[in-house]
Amino acid sequence: MDIKSEFQNKPSSYWLDSSKATRYRELGKDLQVDVAIIGGGIAGISSAYLLCKAGARVAVLEADRILQGTTGHTTAKITCQHALIYAKLKKEQGGELAKQYAEANEKGLHMIAQIAADNNIKCDFSWQPAYIYTSQEKYVKEIEDEVVAAQSLGIEADFVEAIKLPIIIEAGLKFPNQAQFHPLKFLQALAQEIVKNEGLIFENTEAVQIVDNQVVITRRGNRIKASEIIIASHYPFFDGGAMFFSRIYQDRTYILGLTTEEKFPDGYYISAEAPTRSLRSQPYGKNQELILIAGERHKSGQGGDTNTYYQNLLDFAHQTFKVKDLLHRWSTQDCMTLDGIPYIGNLTSRSPNIYVATGFGKWGMSTGMASAMIISDMILQGRSPYAEVFNPSRITPGAIKSFLIQNLDVAKNFVQGKAGSLPAEVDIEAGEAALIKADKDRIGVYKDEKGKVYMVDTTCTHLGCELNWNQAEKSWDCPCHGSRFSFTGEILAGPAVEPLKSLGEGKNRVEARILK
Ligand code: FES
Repeated sequence: MDIKSEFQNKPSSYWLDSSKATRYRELGKDLQVDVAIIGGGIAGISSAYLLCKAGARVAVLEADRILQGTTGHTTAKITCQHALIYAKLKKEQGGELAKQYAEANEKGLHMIAQIAADNNIKCDFSWQPAYIYTSQEKYVKEIEDEVVAAQSLGIEADFVEAIKLPIIIEAGLKFPNQAQFHPLKFLQALAQEIVKNEGLIFENTEAVQIVDNQVVITRRGNRIKASEIIIASHYPFFDGGAMFFSRIYQDRTYILGLTTEEKFPDGYYISAEAPTRSLRSQPYGKNQELILIAGERHKSGQGGDTNTYYQNLLDFAHQTFKVKDLLHRWSTQDCMTLDGIPYIGNLTSRSPNIYVATGFGKWGMSTGMASAMIISDMILQGRSPYAEVFNPSRITPGAIKSFLIQNLDVAKNFVQGKAGSLPAEVDIEAGEAALIKADKDRIGVYKDEKGKVYMVDTTCTHLGCELNWNQAEKSWDCPCHGSRFSFTGEILAGPAVEPLKSLGEGKNRVEARILK
């Protein structure tokens, strides 16, 4: 089965396709609130919910529609099992901080369960065992070490010799009592609760600046004065001197949604070895189930032919199951930190009333809710018992090495993007893109299915790296810090806050150059 013939249309997430679109109004005036929250993903919406419930006057400002970003493109496993992490965490950070990490994520998981139960939210929530498995002997010791480390931190963890999937394994481990859900059903209900509790949600309201540590400025020029500000915009839109561009990189992952002849067993699964294979099921239609298969990875903007990743997942699906229908495919983008632990807490020591929640890696459901709990405790009670391990200003030994690797990679991509020759002319098929050079400009040309051509300046508006084309998602992606832009130049993902310069549109490339 070939992925290109299976999917003619743009990828789209099952979670978004199976939810009603939200319609919160755009902010059109100045405002004063207790807490301004920038970003309407799981961290922002959950923070708003907890703070509203505690009586704070809260406003959520979302640049697009809420829940459309990484939250709408997750696998939606809610777990403190974040692949093989605890043995490493204990070794690098010590037992106390590793325990903080585990407990915060466990609490995030149980908080989602409690909120769903308290508000009678029908979000396909179910308790599930979470498994890590390996089919390679060299990972057996790592699995054994992980079980020992997890148990020493108070996590219930068991070594297993087999799993119920049709995959032959060498070893596995099981965390019982983890969970999964439909994230949009849960979070859209939470958004309604926020409004019921007199919280404010504004969509199409892009925050572009923070001044004097207490005023958020929107693209339209409105000013939101707030005693506390939470930046939950995935990649922080405002840096405040925290230098996130040197401490966060972005990674892309791919997901298929398909039906199979076989019934999926209980639990969800992830491989210890690369390429990652992550599997879960999801109730679908009337008495059906959708099998989600996620995996593959590359740094944003460095993926080459991105359809390959979908194809690899599809090949794995056929090797493992009798596939009936391939119904959905989508990809996601995650912020990764240097030591693998999210940045949650005060943005910097100079801005004690500005908080940030980012860098959830690929585990944003438990850590998204945990970040809401930690930051709302810091605001309401002045402290959180989990502040130290997630402190955004920390410098850990693992982070220093990773800092050098990541920033050398940025430098290499910056230089490579400027070097090399490009053709002055190119023939492209409908649905494809290419780079050309005209005068000194590097121009990205995309031809849509009707033959209309769109040209943009492909120099990233963040820090000037040159963008690469992402064929599967039809976007221009930055290999340095992961900003993404549509073929018309609109921002799809930060850190960039300015769109690409459009160089014209036309019926063919020559005409488009004349338009320029
Ligand atoms: Fe930083 Fe493009 S995202 S230069």
